[in-house]
Amino acid sequence: MAVPQYLIHTLGCQMNERDSEIMAGQLETMGYRRAGSEAEADLIIINTCAVRAGAEDHAFGHVGRLKQLKDERPAMTLAVAGCMAQEPGTIAWLKKHAPHVDLVFGTHNLHELPRLLEEAEERDEMLVEVWKSAGETLAEHVPSRRKEGIRAQVNIIYGCDKFCTYCIVPFTRGRERSRALSDVMREVRALADQGFEDIMFLGQNVNSYGHDLDPRVDLADLMEAAETVHGLRWIHYMTPHPRDFSDRLIEIIASSEKISHQLHLPLQAGSNAILRRMNRKYTREQYLELIAKARSKIADVSFTTDIIVGFPGETEEDFEQTLELVRMIRFDSAFTFVYSPREGTPAARWEGRDPVANPIKKDRLNRLMALQYEISLAANQRLIGKDLLVLVDGVSKKNDDVWAGRTQTGKVVLLDRQKDIDLTDCFVPVRIESAKTFYLTGSVKGKALNQPKRRLEALPLL
Ligand code: SAH
Ligand code: SF4
Ligand code: F3S
Repeated sequence: MAVPQYLIHTLGCQMNERDSEIMAGQLETMGYRRAGSEAEADLIIINTCAVRAGAEDHAFGHVGRLKQLKDERPAMTLAVAGCMAQEPGTIAWLKKHAPHVDLVFGTHNLHELPRLLEEAEERDEMLVEVWKSAGETLAEHVPSRRKEGIRAQVNIIYGCDKFCTYCIVPFTRGRERSRALSDVMREVRALADQGFEDIMFLGQNVNSYGHDLDPRVDLADLMEAAETVHGLRWIHYMTPHPRDFSDRLIEIIASSEKISHQLHLPLQAGSNAILRRMNRKYTREQYLELIAKARSKIADVSFTTDIIVGFPGETEEDFEQTLELVRMIRFDSAFTFVYSPREGTPAARWEGRDPVANPIKKDRLNRLMALQYEISLAANQRLIGKDLLVLVDGVSKKNDDVWAGRTQTGKVVLLDRQKDIDLTDCFVPVRIESAKTFYLTGSVKGKALNQPKRRLEALPLL
């Protein structure tokens, strides 16, 4: 029999990317291999995101378009997974509008994929198996197929207990559950042994890590342990909550050779009235204090952020306070979003539901983006002439003549490509020569620091 082939489409955040790797690992253990296109796939999984309406529309559209493929090849399996699957509204929609879907499973039971696929195959109707919450114990030792390259993501804490009033994540990902420090470190060491040199610790709220463990540990303990792992060069983490950023963590980042000096600190809004209604649990003054503290301790620190405009009740004055903070802090970059009401969240139940009119939201978004782009460009221009270490990811997708890589603080750098040497996965010293809003250009100023191991061999699942 021909080898079955799978394809996974991943929407949403790094948590979903990591989940897709775990799905892929299970499928490859079952004998599947990755398909080159939808037309070749025997199994297509859409790993969905529910954070804003746009992400949901995208997933619904894709599921709808796959009806034709399913009509042509009824034996293929179509599955919907991820955060949208945790919402009752999605299941009702799929049953009504997309009965061609064979299997729906959620974020809490993706480690059961082999059994779910078997059961789905035996049924004529859609199999829906979504757990409301995680099981008693976390699923460890599930095989996963990581992306190519030498960067790896490592889950450290699942779920979120913060309940920001706009956010669906606590509902789709459940309560906070930390992985044991020993399990995380076992994975990190195994990754380093396989040749991964840049790791990213993942969680919706990484600085809550360990509060639920016995004995209690924290992110600073984990960072200290990871720092000692031989072979690791860079350590990243995503996302910290501004309220829980401890002084000890700042000290550890400041003194570390490996931990990124980029602090991604989602601000969301600059007015205290809005921050309170968002249930963000900090004030603008406390946020500014954290920025000042980090700036005074961490050399060449780079701040990035997330901001929402048009939250219910946001007045022009509130919004101007956001602009004011952006001007004061001068983030290196910012992800900016228009508020999107999410069914099941507190804010979506408030009177008026989504009272800021669309044109106003759009106008605020444009003004915020224009300001941020100006600041991003100026921040990048300040790097001209500097020597920075760049991890090259490979040939740029847009231009065959350049390498694309990133600095430790996450800035994209493009380098002229000599075709006789392969810099993929190399850490190279680079002199920055020019700056644009979204990237820098530079030239290589010395030999690569490493001889990447990961490209040289077919690696077992991890
Ligand atoms: N856990 C992370 C972020 C998770 S979602 C944190 O707390 O920072 C990523 C970003 O999406 C959020 O920071 C927020 O800016 C945005 N977001 C979340 N819910 C949203 C909504 N309902 N409408 C618009 N943007 C939203
Ligand atoms: Fe959502 Fe807030 Fe949790 Fe981030 S901290 S995932 S924004 S509830
Ligand atoms: Fe989206 Fe779920 Fe991540 S809602 S942002 S994929 S946790």
